[in-house]
Amino acid sequence: MPQAHEKLSCFLIPFLVAVSLAICSAGDDVSEQFVYSGGFAGANLTLGDAAVLTPEGLLELTNGTLRQKAHAIHPAPFRFRNASTARSFSASLVFGILCPDDDNCGHGIILFVAPGDYNFSAAFPSQYIGFVNGTSNGAAANHIFGVELDTDQNNEFRDIDGNHVGIDVDGLTSVASTSAGYFGDDDGVFHNLTLASGKAMQAWVDYDGEGKQITVAMAPIGTARPVKPLLSTAYDLSTVLTDTAYVGFSSATGSFNSRHYVLGWSFAMDGPAPAIDIAQLPKLPRFGPKRRPKLAQIIPPVATAAFILAIGTVTILLIRRRRKYRELREDWEVEFGPHRFSYKDLFRATGGFKDKNLLGVGGFGRVYKGVLPVSKLEIAVKKVSHDSKQGMKEFIAEVVSIGRLQHRNLAQLLGYCRRKGELLLIYEYMPNGSLDKHLYGGDDEKPVLDWDERFRIIKGIASGLLYLHEEWEKVVIHRDIKASNVLLDGEMNGRLGDFGLARMYDRGANAQTTHVVGTIGYLAPELGRTNKATPLTDVFAFGIFLLEVTCGQRPISQNSQGDQLMLVDWVLDHWLRGSLTETVDAKLQHYDVDQACLALKLGLLCSHPLQNSRPDMRQVVRYLNGDVQLPELTPTNESFQILGLVQNEGFDSYLMPYPSPMESINTTLSSLAAEK
Ligand SMILES: Nc1ncnc2c1ncn2[C@@H]1O[C@H](COP(=O)(O)OP(=O)(O)O)[C@@H](O)[C@H]1O
Ligand SMILES: *[C@@H]1O[C@H](CO)[C@@H](O)[C@H](O)[C@H]1NC(C)=O
Ligand SMILES: *[C@@H]1O[C@H](CO)[C@@H](O)[C@H](O)[C@H]1NC(C)=O
Ligand SMILES: *[C@@H]1O[C@H](CO)[C@@H](O)[C@H](O)[C@H]1NC(C)=O
Ligand SMILES: *[C@@H]1O[C@H](CO)[C@@H](O)[C@H](O)[C@H]1NC(C)=O
Ligand SMILES: *[C@@H]1O[C@H](CO)[C@@H](O)[C@H](O)[C@H]1NC(C)=O
Ligand SMILES: *[C@@H]1O[C@H](CO)[C@@H](O)[C@H](O)[C@H]1NC(C)=O
Repeated sequence: MPQAHEKLSCFLIPFLVAVSLAICSAGDDVSEQFVYSGGFAGANLTLGDAAVLTPEGLLELTNGTLRQKAHAIHPAPFRFRNASTARSFSASLVFGILCPDDDNCGHGIILFVAPGDYNFSAAFPSQYIGFVNGTSNGAAANHIFGVELDTDQNNEFRDIDGNHVGIDVDGLTSVASTSAGYFGDDDGVFHNLTLASGKAMQAWVDYDGEGKQITVAMAPIGTARPVKPLLSTAYDLSTVLTDTAYVGFSSATGSFNSRHYVLGWSFAMDGPAPAIDIAQLPKLPRFGPKRRPKLAQIIPPVATAAFILAIGTVTILLIRRRRKYRELREDWEVEFGPHRFSYKDLFRATGGFKDKNLLGVGGFGRVYKGVLPVSKLEIAVKKVSHDSKQGMKEFIAEVVSIGRLQHRNLAQLLGYCRRKGELLLIYEYMPNGSLDKHLYGGDDEKPVLDWDERFRIIKGIASGLLYLHEEWEKVVIHRDIKASNVLLDGEMNGRLGDFGLARMYDRGANAQTTHVVGTIGYLAPELGRTNKATPLTDVFAFGIFLLEVTCGQRPISQNSQGDQLMLVDWVLDHWLRGSLTETVDAKLQHYDVDQACLALKLGLLCSHPLQNSRPDMRQVVRYLNGDVQLPELTPTNESFQILGLVQNEGFDSYLMPYPSPMESINTTLSSLAAEK
């Protein structure tokens, strides 16, 4: 429907339309104008190529499809020349260019005046903006004039930038151009406008037929036409325009997704273009392409969800991993750094502390076998549960100092690791396990140790204990010597293990102990009275150990009547009766009688109830090596008479209930703290 001049009459009363049309064509001066203010819905426009009128009333020149071109032409021509002179005219438009990617836009909109026979079908899209083609560009025969709103820079047409306004005569190489923008009325300052911002903006084009001046202005929508024009150039269109010509738009896309819209349009010959009522204009669509291909619509949300899921999973895994391997680490531990193992390494080394790597369960916790990831060193990891932080620093300091103890008959402590509620001690791995399993057999029946091996182990442990007592910078009391704490390395050397219970005190200083630790059967009688561990209480336990290894019997056993039988009692009894060799392990087919008797007698001497009658470890080692003869002791000897007299008292006291080792290491730790 032609919307020439007065809108009301044209729209509302059909028969008046005919009248006004008649006026339009008849009255030269009054009717040579039009305005599209309330949108283009139902407008009588000549549309070409991609151009459509949307239901919302927009003139959609391109819809985002690549390499599209479009033109929309007002159906009625105007007389542009009076005699041979171009007449003044004025146009105004509100447009919007939507471009998903600001940097990649193309190509723009041209408001043109062109002769009726101009062949737009021959024009090209892309940089030609549906206006000309490669050969027709610049040809004087075109007789076309246009104002380009160009969103792409083409060197071919000497474009100044990718966001400019240009005056085009017969082609796209502008006779004048400038960056899009406007001069503020109040400050006169230039303000940039981005043509492809997706925002509606208004432009005005005027030709002054007398002054032969072309003027272009633009402003954001809602802003009045700026007083100072954006672009003004002297150009005589008299030779360009034909007598009658049409006004319209051309537009095109190239390799970029852009959508070009015209929201409102007005035109007039010989006077200012009618004002466009901004309030009535249709709305530009939301920024971004309206109708994307289905796949493109589905992929982003799916990808986003997948991405979030992946991030979430990774985060959870990391958190779980961190929790799994989380350790306790405090400032004071820095100095112990080299002795500190990472839980992760231990976890990997022991295959996640799997049961199949369990070596045994001791008084303080489980012991696992492991292989360190990098060094391939075989280790035994003792997992000790602990709750308190109290005394931890001292304990660790002790662990580290114990780690410095090095002797061929000690199971080397390599380091430690701390976690919440858990302490891990790392020892050298002893392939042949603990001695008790070889003495008494067990689940996996081991071949009986022959006497030579036993005696070598006895001598080794004696030398290890001597090292602890006398040969290191501090006196170290083992406190828990027994067959199950003697480990056997690959060459069946005896190695003292389990330093978890070892305490230290400076040589000569008094040890103040608050709890008795150790194992029933190996505890010296004086411990029951004084609670004071000394090197001589270790000697006592070593004596029991000697008897244990030689007799192949546990320190305390039960007879058929359920009475407790003390090994030391039994051996002493046999000795008093002159049948000492009867106590030697019956499983031994061959043994050195002298060595066995030495071991048994020395065992009795070491486990003498009176501590002052016991030898120290240096003497023990000398006796065992044969460097010194064991004093010729007879059962009638004074010291053994005393032994006989006090033995009952002594054994009674060491059968007192002592705290079980199962009471967790807390006891040990707190007493350690108290000790330091
Ligand atoms: N360094 C090691 N190498 C090999 N096996 C070990 C090692 N330390 C301990 N074990 C095994 O783990 C078991 C329990 O050890 P431990 O806690 O020291 O026992 P306990 O507390 O009874 O003295 C031992 O009997 C031994 O078989
Ligand atoms: C559109 O305008 C042209 C020129 O004014 C006229 O010839 C044509 O009949 C009009 N079409 C309609 C549908 O009004
Ligand atoms: C865009 O217009 C073209 C016609 O020029 C049409 O083939 C295409 O389907 C349209 N695309 C969309 C998304 O509307
Ligand atoms: C056309 O030109 C004639 C003579 O040159 C002049 O009198 C007349 O006013 C002009 N008309 C317009 C509309 O400019
Ligand atoms: C317009 O140009 C096209 C393509 O160049 C051509 O096929 C068509 O015949 C031309 N039309 C006229 C009227 O010249
Ligand atoms: C370019 O357009 C002109 C008419 O404007 C036409 O004659 C010519 O064939 C076109 N050239 C090409 C290459 O299409
Ligand atoms: C306008 O844009 C140009 C280049 O696009 C830039 O150099 C200039 O600083 C901008 N001016 C303002 C006022 O934003």
